[in-house]
Amino acid sequence: MGIPTYADLAAARTVLADLLPPTPAWHYPVLDTAVGAEVWVKHENAQPVGAFKVRGGLTLLASFDDKQRANGVVAASTGNHAQSVAYAAAHFGAPCTIVMPENANPAKAAAVRALGAHLVLEGERFDDCRVVAERIARETGAYYVDSGNEPALISGVGTATIELLERAPDLDALFVPVGAGTGVAGACLAAAELAPNCHVIGVQSAQAPSAHDSWRSGELLERPNRTVIEGVATAKPFAVPQQIMRDLLHDFLLVDDADIRAAQRLLLTSAHTMAEGAGAVALAGLWSIRVRYAGKRVGVICSGGNASEAELGEVLGS
Ligand SMILES: Cc1ncc(COP(=O)(O)O)c(C=O)c1O
Repeated sequence: MGIPTYADLAAARTVLADLLPPTPAWHYPVLDTAVGAEVWVKHENAQPVGAFKVRGGLTLLASFDDKQRANGVVAASTGNHAQSVAYAAAHFGAPCTIVMPENANPAKAAAVRALGAHLVLEGERFDDCRVVAERIARETGAYYVDSGNEPALISGVGTATIELLERAPDLDALFVPVGAGTGVAGACLAAAELAPNCHVIGVQSAQAPSAHDSWRSGELLERPNRTVIEGVATAKPFAVPQQIMRDLLHDFLLVDDADIRAAQRLLLTSAHTMAEGAGAVALAGLWSIRVRYAGKRVGVICSGGNASEAELGEVLGS
């Protein structure tokens, strides 16, 4: 498995230039005041599928030849990797099968269907769906799009950080949510090239800490996956992003699911932003160590906004 480099991110940027305009990034007075720092929010919730992942799917499918596209793709996901692959497959005319958990977020399942993908609801958690998707790939010859160990996904999603660092140079730190680790690995590669003094800090739910524990220990460790925050709900670590993190990540924080819900509320009330849980993980991480960055300039990747109605009710009601 190849490890992507900054050159791959730059190439992905060129590919995506015709497909996705840059997303906005702003800092907001009320949020800055609450945190005590200048907080640049990168609005990946403003992507056409509502999440940063679409950058990766398009980058991968753009690299396929006609035969590979005709063979189709299959992916397992709690929803945003699914929408990314389904969106890219629809754009490039490739057949697409998506496996999501039986109790998938209805908004994400509807979006996958609307993108024209064949949706299979099988498995309790993401890691069960992964097994089903790998089986379908073996049976049909479709390409299995691994959600973490696929270099093109890392290169693609890394372009979000390139855009942010162009808009807000001289960041002291950048907080990135971690599930499989593609987003944070891409952020590490972009920052190492463009802003070597910027601390890239990964953030994961304490209720599903496998990537965090793997990074801290230097071994690939499975951990229980008990988080309710889709997108960062993984039990197994992924080798490729872990390798990049090992070389380039400055720090890795854990936050509780309740703190993530609080960060969602803060984005709503202080940054005009509806984030899904995973989209607020970075801000929850910053919030937990805000004293350390008082008066500094920091970035948070708001990675997605695909909250279900039930989730929104929970955020507003608590
Ligand atoms: C909204 C959102 N944020 C963060 C993540 C975590 O990204 P990664 O799996 O690249 O670590 C995901 C993953 O699906 C996501 O959907």
